[in-house]
Amino acid sequence: MTQNFLLPIINFEPAVMKHGKGSYLYDTNEKKYLDLNSGQFCTILGHCNSEILSNINESMNTLSHTASNILAEEVIKCADKIHTISGEMSAYSIFLSTGAESVEFALRYSKFINKKSGIICFDKGYHGLTLGTQSVTFGGKFANPHISDIYTVPVPDYIHFTKTEEEYINEFANLVHNIHHKVSAVIMEPVVSVGGMLFPSSNYFQSIRLICNKYNLLLIFDESQTGFGRLGTWFAYQQYNIIPDIVCLAKGIGLGYPVSMVLFRDKLITDKVFTMTHYSSHQNDAFAASIVNAGIKYIEKYNLLKKVKENGQYFLNTLQKLCAINPHIKNPRGLGLMLGADLFFSGIHDYRNLYHKLYERMMENGVIIQGTCGGKILRFLPDYLISHSDIDFAINTLNTVLSSLDIFK
Ligand SMILES: Cc1ncc(COP(=O)(O)O)c(C=O)c1O
Repeated sequence: MTQNFLLPIINFEPAVMKHGKGSYLYDTNEKKYLDLNSGQFCTILGHCNSEILSNINESMNTLSHTASNILAEEVIKCADKIHTISGEMSAYSIFLSTGAESVEFALRYSKFINKKSGIICFDKGYHGLTLGTQSVTFGGKFANPHISDIYTVPVPDYIHFTKTEEEYINEFANLVHNIHHKVSAVIMEPVVSVGGMLFPSSNYFQSIRLICNKYNLLLIFDESQTGFGRLGTWFAYQQYNIIPDIVCLAKGIGLGYPVSMVLFRDKLITDKVFTMTHYSSHQNDAFAASIVNAGIKYIEKYNLLKKVKENGQYFLNTLQKLCAINPHIKNPRGLGLMLGADLFFSGIHDYRNLYHKLYERMMENGVIIQGTCGGKILRFLPDYLISHSDIDFAINTLNTVLSSLDIFK
C-alpha cells in the first residue's frame, strides 16, 4: 500500500495495521507488534477485547443515540456509577467525544461561572489542539492565533532542576496573588505527560487546591490520561487526596472509541451555573455511556485497579534494572501504568533525530513506543492487561536497540 489520500498532517509509518488483539497489532504482512502505547493511550483493556465487544454490541443493538434533550436509560445508569466511583467529588457528568472537547467545555463553563477571562496553566501542559485548548497547551506557545489572558507556571520538575517544591508553590502563590482578579480557573494535568512525564507531588497539588480556595479559582484536573484507572485508582485526584472542581476524562475512558467526559463536583451544581446551555450532536450518547459502563464493569470484575498497581510496579522495577545496566537511559519513574525515562547520549543536545531512529528500530523489532512527540523522554502507557513476559520483551528489546544505535549515521 504505497498511496493514500489522507491529509498529510503528520508522518505516517510505512507499516499499515490490519487487525489487533490484546496488547498486539498485526500489519498487512501479518507482522506482529507489541503496542506499548495502547494506541494513543486509549485501548486500556487491549485491542478488540471480546468481552467488551460483546457488551458494547448488545448496547449498540439496543440504542446508540438520542436527541440532546432526550436521555437514554444507559446514560443515567452510567452517570450514577461515575457519581459513586468519583467518591467525595460526588460528580455530575456529561459525556462528550474527545479530550479537547472536554477541555473546551471545562474552560467555557469556568469562564462563565467566574466571569473572568484568565486561565492559569502549566508551561508544559498538553490539553489538545483545538483553537481554545491550544492556548493552554504548552502555555499557548504554539497557539495561532494566541488567546489572551493565559498565565503559566512551571511544572514542578524534581528530576532535571534544582528548585525545591516550596519554590514551585511560592511561584504559583505569587502569580495568583497578583492576577487573581483576572482569572477564572487553573487547569493542570495530574501527571504531566507530553511535557516530560513529570509527577508533581500530593503536597504540591494540595497547596494549589488551598490557594485556589483562597482566591475562589476553579481547579480543573485534566485526567485525559491519568483517569479511569491508569494510576491504580479510578482518578488521580484520589491519590493526591484533593477534590478538584472539574475533571476532564478522555482516551482510556473510551477504550479506543471516541468518548470523553467532564465531571463537575457536586458543590458546583447550582441553577446559576447552568443558565448557560451546551449543545453538541453526540453529548450524552447511549453509545458513549455503554462503552464507559462496559469499562467499569470489566475493571471491577477483574480487579484491574489492583492489577494496574502490580503491573506498574513490575514495569518500573524492570525499567530501573535497565537503567542500571544501560548508560543510554536514566531517571526511571512511574506511577501505576504511566511510566517514563530519559534518553542519554553523550554529545547529543537535540534528540529528535535520535528518537526517530530509536522508534524505527523498535518498530523493526516488533515494539511500538510513543511516536508522536519524540525527544529526550520515553513514555510508556501500555494496556492494563499487559503480561510480565511482554514487559520483559519490551525492555529487553529497548536494551538491545539502545546499545546498537548508530547515532551519528
Ligand atoms: C492530558 C490531555 N488532555 C487533552 C488531550 C486532547 O485529547 P484529544 O486528542 O482526544 O482531543 C490529550 C491528548 O493527548 C491529553 O493528553
